[in-house]
Amino acid sequence: MSGRTFLVTALAICGSLALPTVALHAETVASPDGRIVVTLDADGEGVPFYEVTRAGKPLIARSQIAFNFTDEDPLRRGLKIESIARGAADTRWEQPWGERRFVRDRHNELAVTFVETRPDPRRLTVRFRVFDDGVGFRSEFPGRATKPETRIAEELTEFVIVPKGTTWWIQAGDWNRYEQIYQQTPIDAVSMAHTPMTVRLDDGTHMAFHEAALVDYSGMWLQRLTGQRFRTHLSPSSRGAKVVRTGAFNTPWRSIRIADGAAGLVQSDLELNLNEPNKLGDVSWFKPAKYIGIWWGMISGKWSWAQGPQHGATTARTREYIDFAARHGFRGVLVEGWNVGWDGNWFGNGRDYSFTQSYPDFDLKAVTDYARKKNVRLIGHHETGGNIDVYERQLNDAMKLYGDLGVDVVKTGYVADAGGIISCNADIALPCDTQVMEWHDGQRQVQHHLRVVEEAAKNRVAVNPHEPVKDTGLRRTYPNWVAREGARGQEYNAWAPFNNGPEHEPTLVYTRMLSGPMDYTPGVLSVTGGNGVPMASTVAKQLGLYLAIYSPIQMAADFIESLAAHPRELEFIKAVPADWAESRLIAGEVGDYAIFARKDRVSEDWYVGGINDATAREVTVTFDFLDEGKSYAATIWKDGEGATYETEARHRIAYDRRTVKKGDSLTLWLAPGGGAAVRLQPGK
Ligand code: NOJ
Ligand code: CA
Repeated sequence: MSGRTFLVTALAICGSLALPTVALHAETVASPDGRIVVTLDADGEGVPFYEVTRAGKPLIARSQIAFNFTDEDPLRRGLKIESIARGAADTRWEQPWGERRFVRDRHNELAVTFVETRPDPRRLTVRFRVFDDGVGFRSEFPGRATKPETRIAEELTEFVIVPKGTTWWIQAGDWNRYEQIYQQTPIDAVSMAHTPMTVRLDDGTHMAFHEAALVDYSGMWLQRLTGQRFRTHLSPSSRGAKVVRTGAFNTPWRSIRIADGAAGLVQSDLELNLNEPNKLGDVSWFKPAKYIGIWWGMISGKWSWAQGPQHGATTARTREYIDFAARHGFRGVLVEGWNVGWDGNWFGNGRDYSFTQSYPDFDLKAVTDYARKKNVRLIGHHETGGNIDVYERQLNDAMKLYGDLGVDVVKTGYVADAGGIISCNADIALPCDTQVMEWHDGQRQVQHHLRVVEEAAKNRVAVNPHEPVKDTGLRRTYPNWVAREGARGQEYNAWAPFNNGPEHEPTLVYTRMLSGPMDYTPGVLSVTGGNGVPMASTVAKQLGLYLAIYSPIQMAADFIESLAAHPRELEFIKAVPADWAESRLIAGEVGDYAIFARKDRVSEDWYVGGINDATAREVTVTFDFLDEGKSYAATIWKDGEGATYETEARHRIAYDRRTVKKGDSLTLWLAPGGGAAVRLQPGK
């Protein structure tokens, strides 16, 4: 027992834990399994810092926690430990929907309050939660009677990574938001990265840097200073101060997943555990489901969002899609381009959008009535062109309209270059006066998303934003925030040959997907984009995507004619769940391949499969997760002989059936750009 722990324990026994104790030396807190140890202290100049080791090995060297402000002195040097508090938890909570039903939250906690050694001192509490699979920490600002407003110019929290390694990352601060191909570089070649930023250390340890519970704050970018030293760089704001808060507040949790290998990284629920529990209560009205849509036609250039002879969203076509959905058991039909505002330039503009008025050739009431009779729901669409001013003025009416018509999922969109969000003010609480420009992940847009999610929830509508702010686990607190884009999605495959490349999706699994569900929109069975452009995918990979890239709303993105032309593949898409009791990555490496085993939430069926990069490989799957004593009928969709994304052989798919039981194994050959999908049904 350390001297401080002894002192605290003694005080606790005397019932006077609230008494401040005097800083004697560094404070430490370990993970429940004892492997991860965090040290917190202030250095010789009084700069608060932390360090992280795992199994005795330094992972994060002395890294400062500090802030600059626009209107007061930096909070950085001249601090000392004033008091500490410790805690621990071991609980299990249930997700209303997700990759797994139950999540275990087991951690030890240390909160250290630092105080300045100057007259009228300021205080900062740093709270660490240490789990077996990583750490989370946040800075907590107490309210001040003398200066209620805090204006953060920059958060200066650092992450000094000790061992050498490789990083997968996308550029932060660039025009295309998160929609980029991942770069794979040594850690010391990163410039400014979005999070999650994934790292494989040379000894095989995997880490991912991210944040949890990004609420009323600005998104964190990671800027490399020198060597392997990274510093927080907050997304900008029109106000100058990147974050403005009144009263007491906390930063989001800065999170570091740490695991022995790639599977441990994917398996972790660290950020979900760092978020607050469900604030919405019963959300059973949201049904995880699959959907089709009037969408690929616009993306591939055959139809238009705008009015005219190619207009996609007509009443007649919507009825046709509803009929197809009803016939094949898809719950949702997405319709884009139904509302006024798409004619002319809407990109980064959005001034003409109405979210309640339809185009004359689209009868919203008639199609929602028609859908309801067929047990199908429309999926709504609110593209803003980045203009949140126009959207927020109509938000209540727009959500009420959908809610009243039984449209219970809405896809939102913010198509504008980074920094191109148009707002009428810099703070959601201020009266609306002048137009300002904001970032997709700045404080104003973070506020906006939550406002949309809360307004939607009041109307029993779930939300799926495109061009969103990154996911930070807020689906736990707001379970109607069901998916988002926030990476380069399938749409890019429609625009140029091999646009995303075969490595893209097996990289997403270990990077973007660590943050939460993605509306990637799989299921383009033609593996062909606009003007016949070939996709970097075999047909089997389009099926494997349903198991590799999780979302509780999964699209079958292709034209219905193409889905119908692939009846055996459609059989898989119809069967595969969008909600799981359990999910495990059973084989894979970052950027190479990813094979999952997932168990259905409402039946005893298991599904196994996933996706590959450009290198053909054989993967042997052992069915050690199946129930003892049962036999399972396995239906297999796999790459056909000689299949490859590089040629017309991308269309080659093969099928197989066999009976398997626990402990049996199956070797799957994955083509270049390939994939596989297996359904396992017990007792058949
Ligand atoms: C970009 C989105 O990612 C895409 O899905 C949508 O169709 C267009 N914006 C138009 O809203
Ligand atoms: Ca997009």
